[in-house]
Amino acid sequence: MTENIELTHQQERAFQPQKLSAPRDFIIPKTIADTEDETPLILEIGAGKGKHALSFALQNPDKHLIAIERTRNKFEAFSKLARSQQLRNLDAIHADAIAWTVHAIKPNSLAKIFILYPNPEQHNPNQQWLNMPFFEFLLSRLQVDGEVILVTNIEAYMNDAERQATKVWCLPSVRYRVPKDSQRTHFEVKYLARQEVCWELSIRKPKWYKTRFDHWQPSTPDIKK
Ligand SMILES: C[S@@+](CC[C@H](N)C(=O)[O-])C[C@H]1O[C@@H](n2cnc3c(N)ncnc32)[C@H](O)[C@@H]1O
Repeated sequence: MTENIELTHQQERAFQPQKLSAPRDFIIPKTIADTEDETPLILEIGAGKGKHALSFALQNPDKHLIAIERTRNKFEAFSKLARSQQLRNLDAIHADAIAWTVHAIKPNSLAKIFILYPNPEQHNPNQQWLNMPFFEFLLSRLQVDGEVILVTNIEAYMNDAERQATKVWCLPSVRYRVPKDSQRTHFEVKYLARQEVCWELSIRKPKWYKTRFDHWQPSTPDIKK
């Protein structure tokens, strides 16, 4: 991990994945464990009650979505709906997405990552995903030409994220306004009903991109579902 490679980005402080224990009751879903499975793998961080996850899985049967939510009551609502809909291409996971990703996701394996309305505490920029050293690890799990989609109603968060994508992570990004009739998540519905502007940032991983974690894998044994 600390090998002397020329990094593509400007993030000096390195994330330390080896310090994170696996989440309680951790098991690796079959789709991830099966190395022969070529179904595009998508990750959603902070899925809430799962509105987006359920409709995405339903509309994209050719893709597999792993949707993670750490707040118990939201996860329970999500999990109940997921069980009732029996979508084979959706794994609803109750965990902290950082520890879970470190232990479950292989390098260069995700086609897309959704982070929809993360809403950090307004005065704590360290909670913004592109401000975290973990973001470098997340980029190492993304495939070449894979996409991170970050959506927020907080204009300052979007401005910071757009600047960090360029200046810190040296990544191409495109910023959009979310259409007024979009209804992907409960928070999106709420903000757009209040006539707030919602922003979306699409970040792509170029072919030449290098991180410190491109070959890093956890040493925990695989526990398969
Ligand atoms: C403001 S809510 C948005 C939920 C949903 N994406 C939506 O738009 O309706 C943000 C969610 O992210 C979850 N979250 C934040 N950090 C997380 C993490 N590290 N791992 C898993 N979930 C996280 C919170 O528990 C919360 O439910």
